[in-house]
Amino acid sequence: VNGVIEIPVHVNVLYNTAAQNISNAQIQSQIDVLNEDFAGTNPDYNLIPADFSGVASGDIKIKFIWDPTTGTSRKSTTKKNWRTNDDMKRSNKGGLNPTDCANKFNIWVCVLANNILGYAQFPGGACATDGVVVHTNAFGRGNYPLFASFNKGRTATHEVGHWANLRHIWGDATCGNDFVADTPVHNTSNGGCPNQPHFSTCSGSPREMTMNYMDYTNDACMYMFTAGQKSRMLAVFGSGGPRSAFAQ
Ligand code: ARG
Ligand code: ZN
Ligand code: CA
Repeated sequence: VNGVIEIPVHVNVLYNTAAQNISNAQIQSQIDVLNEDFAGTNPDYNLIPADFSGVASGDIKIKFIWDPTTGTSRKSTTKKNWRTNDDMKRSNKGGLNPTDCANKFNIWVCVLANNILGYAQFPGGACATDGVVVHTNAFGRGNYPLFASFNKGRTATHEVGHWANLRHIWGDATCGNDFVADTPVHNTSNGGCPNQPHFSTCSGSPREMTMNYMDYTNDACMYMFTAGQKSRMLAVFGSGGPRSAFAQ
């Protein structure tokens, strides 16, 4: 509709305690964050430094549609936490199979072991495990029991970036390549909330874009994608792309 890719979302909630069976309001808060961050209407978009305003993505034109009555599966589990082996995506492992994996974007919300906030499957993988996983305490924003530095819903924004083919901004290597021309080269990942400006010691000493969603900074300190990241993501949904089923 109007050149906007609409992504139907199915949320799979696995809970070991009643509190982990998160409310529809908490889920809605996460959908709101995704829609703001992908439209460039996030309230902190205005914090983008002047050095980067020329490459900011603006509206990426991807919209997330979630129906509170039909868009959620919930399951009680005796498992206290989950590893990154996709068991949460398999009913025969105590998890929940995805719903309509070819046409819906599945998100699993569960407690992850080893302080992992979330993980994603890149385009081109198996339908049965496609989607993203987000830790219960990093899902959504607002007055919920969320990790203090990860309470603005940016874990899901970052994971959706991966799901749409974005690499980490540091290219997972020292001064590595993220295959996006308008993101600067970073020495490595940044955490916390770096002082600005923060310069890389890689070739050319560019200013690092620590506020990019594909870095590892705190939720409050990441608030942008670039135009190059937008094109790389939209290519996935274009004709012949691995996620073209979403773009009707
Ligand atoms: N560590 C996770 C990943 O590599 C997510 C990082 C999310 N960062 C955040 N500020 N919420 O996919
Ligand atoms: Zn990541
Ligand atoms: Ca780059």
